[in-house]
Amino acid sequence: MSLTREQMLAEMGISPIWELRDNAAPPIEAAEPEAAPGEALAPTVIESVPEARPRVVEQASAGAMPTGDVSGMDWPALARQVANCRACPLCEQRKQAVLGVGDLHPEWLFIGEGPGADEDVQGEPFVGQAGKLLDNMLASLEIARGNKVYIGNAVKCRPPGNRTPEAAEMAACRPYLERQIALLKPKIIVLLGKAAVHSVLHNDNSLASLRGKRFEHAGIPVVVTYHPAYLLRNLPDKAKAWEDLLFARRVLREQMAPELPF
Ligand code: URA
Repeated sequence: MSLTREQMLAEMGISPIWELRDNAAPPIEAAEPEAAPGEALAPTVIESVPEARPRVVEQASAGAMPTGDVSGMDWPALARQVANCRACPLCEQRKQAVLGVGDLHPEWLFIGEGPGADEDVQGEPFVGQAGKLLDNMLASLEIARGNKVYIGNAVKCRPPGNRTPEAAEMAACRPYLERQIALLKPKIIVLLGKAAVHSVLHNDNSLASLRGKRFEHAGIPVVVTYHPAYLLRNLPDKAKAWEDLLFARRVLREQMAPELPF
């Protein structure tokens, strides 16, 4: 059954308040305490983060193999390397590594945390409940996985019990993510939650303090929002995620046509 746009927005918990348009004012209840809505949405802050070079990582545990230098790999070689990766202990309990899914020439790159139980079985990111919400978030932007969008994760193997990946595990996987970004060349990167922010921006500040700002990674604009799994547990924050997506769309448009007024 395909959902109407209104049903999708209702699914995100924000219908019927907002229309999909630029400079949309957030509903009163969505106002950020730390910033006026206009300030939060204006793409004025540019914070550049030095690109982490793909590199050989230290062994995360006995028996782990270093990631190796993946910086020259093409996509098929990278996919093979990830499928056979033993760079950190997460390989011990995975059913399979989950590289990502979507358009290999995307405008948008969404990065989550790591595969959960469903993703570990199916080999595709965000196929569980959080994935349904992510799909609805994409649909509200009139995009879909495989069409202008690639979806990946900070770590490619399921952390046992769906725990948060450890810093060493994210470090072991980072060369793969870096190579994905270099090959995909997205026009914008959206970081879903703290693990993705840690991996890409090397920043452990609160999401609340990072939302509404334009960062850069390898010359690509980066914005931050909440992880869909968090949103499922904190329904009122869906409205903030919607603000973040509108902000991201404005940043993308500026990136693609900087001379046009928006
Ligand atoms: N959560 C994530 O961060 N990634 C997935 O692929 C699934 C759930």
